[in-house]
Amino acid sequence: MNMFINPVKEKNKKTINIEFEKLKHHDLTTIEELHNLFPFWKRNSILKKLKKTEKEKDIRFIAKIDGKIVAHVKYILGKSLHKHRVEMVSLMVEENNRRKGIAKKLVNYSLKNLPEEKTLVILAVDKKNKPAINLYKKLGFKEHGLLKKASIVDGKYVDNLLMNKKIK
Ligand SMILES: CC(C)(COP(=O)(O)OP(=O)(O)OC[C@H]1O[C@@H](n2cnc3c(N)ncnc32)[C@H](O)[C@@H]1OP(=O)(O)O)[C@@H](O)C(=O)NCCC(=O)NCCS
Repeated sequence: MNMFINPVKEKNKKTINIEFEKLKHHDLTTIEELHNLFPFWKRNSILKKLKKTEKEKDIRFIAKIDGKIVAHVKYILGKSLHKHRVEMVSLMVEENNRRKGIAKKLVNYSLKNLPEEKTLVILAVDKKNKPAINLYKKLGFKEHGLLKKASIVDGKYVDNLLMNKKIK
C-alpha cells in the first residue's frame, strides 16, 4: 500500500502519527468519513466521484490520524495537450487538526506520488483565503493571474487567485 507515517509534534509537544495514502478504497467507512470531512457533500455524489477516481480521471490523497481521515486533496488529471498538467482541488483539513502542518505534508506527499509525466500543478483559490494562499506560497506555488468572478459563494461573486508550481 502507498502509505507513509510521519510524526508531527503538536504545539503542546505531544507527538502524533499521521499516515498519508493515495485513496484507492471506497468502502462504506471511507465514504462516511469523507462525508464527515465535507458535510456539504452528499453521500451519492461522493460515491460518483470515487467511481470517477477508479477510471483515473482524478487522484485523491488522504491523511489519517489514528485511522481516522483528517485531510483530503484531489488532483484532476490533464489529458491530451494538457497531459503534463494536474489541477489541485478540494484540499481540506479537519477543523480540529489545522495548524499542525498536515496540509503542507499532505500536499508534499501527494506531489511526490503523482504519475511520472505530470510536471505542472495549477490551482485557483479564493483571493480572500489567506490561510490557503499562505500555505500555497510556502509550498512554492507562484501567482500567475486573477480570475474575476471565478466562483459564486453565498450568492456573491468571488475572485480567484490563479497559482502554479513546476514539480519537475
Ligand atoms: C487551508 C488549509 C488547508 C490549511 O491546512 P493546515 O493543515 O492548517 O495548514 P498547515 O498547518 O500545513 O500550514 C502550513 C502553512 O500555511 C499557512 N497557514 C495555514 N493556516 C493558516 C491560517 N489560519 N492563517 C494564516 N496562515 C495559515 C501558514 O503559512 C502555515 O505555516 P506555519 O504554520 O509555519 O505558519 C485549512 O485551513 C483548511 O482546510 N481550510 C478550509 C478549506 C480550504 O480553504 N481549502 C483550500 C481551498 S483552495
